[in-house]
Amino acid sequence: MAHEEEKNIDYERGRVSTVDLHDSVRRENPLMPGGEGSAGAVVLVVASLILILGGGQLFSTANGFSDSIYVNDNYQPAPRPSLGGEDEVVVQVAWIEEWMSDGKKVYNNCIACHQASGLGIPGQFPPLVGSEWVDGGTSRLGAIMLHGINGPFKVAGQTYNQLMPAWNNLSDEKIAQVVTYIRREFGSLPTDDEGVVTIDMIKAARDQFSSQTGPYTEAQLLAIPEGEFLPGSSVDLETGEFLNSGADAIEGSVEG
Ligand code: HEC
Repeated sequence: MAHEEEKNIDYERGRVSTVDLHDSVRRENPLMPGGEGSAGAVVLVVASLILILGGGQLFSTANGFSDSIYVNDNYQPAPRPSLGGEDEVVVQVAWIEEWMSDGKKVYNNCIACHQASGLGIPGQFPPLVGSEWVDGGTSRLGAIMLHGINGPFKVAGQTYNQLMPAWNNLSDEKIAQVVTYIRREFGSLPTDDEGVVTIDMIKAARDQFSSQTGPYTEAQLLAIPEGEFLPGSSVDLETGEFLNSGADAIEGSVEG
């Protein structure tokens, strides 16, 4: 109706009733001509297919809407908090396993130089595997960890001449964990040595080596007897409780 001449002048001037006008339009342009509803049939077929296929899919995978589909074979329900009744079941991970896995996390600080394998980088960073400093008593390790080393420094017959950073900004717990980790993971310890270093032992090391300023030289570290151990009770590997210490047999794993 864009053109001026197509306008219904009669209508505009009010000479024709609106009802009459619509009647004529309806007569000439009937709504929904019969027999031409094929588009509707296509929609119907597609919709039915979607329903049938979708329903089949749902039926075959939803397992009858049972909640067991969310539970796989390896699922283990978390133990319910116990009120201390007699048949309390405690799923206990051995203390040493947690201590070692925490130690492995702290060891992330070391892998840039000593590598995840503990083999170091030849000529640059010394190995921890096969190192006489890792296998021996724990006093030297405590000193190394707290104050670092200024090369030249000999490990397994090779000389390294860099700087081993001090780690005294780590907590006693983290230092104890990482030293335990490198001793048990990379060392070849004598059978009577569990390799475990406790928080108490690192506390003792802080006292023992507190007069040191700056990183150690090789000569200073060699002056600490090779077989010397940091003082402190050993712990039960299952529970983390101190062994052979009557009065203060509290947990060795908890700081503070
Ligand atoms: C920036 C590199 C670097 C990082 C990081 C580093 N070290 Fe070292 N480390 C050295 C170097 C270099 C030496 C050898 C001494 C030297 O040349 O000063 C050494 C020596 C040692 C030694 C004694 C020698 C040996 O190979 O047994 C121990 C033990 C050790 N590091 C443990 C660690 C631990 C544990 C960590 C992580 C908490 C760590 N280091 C992080 C560079 C590093």
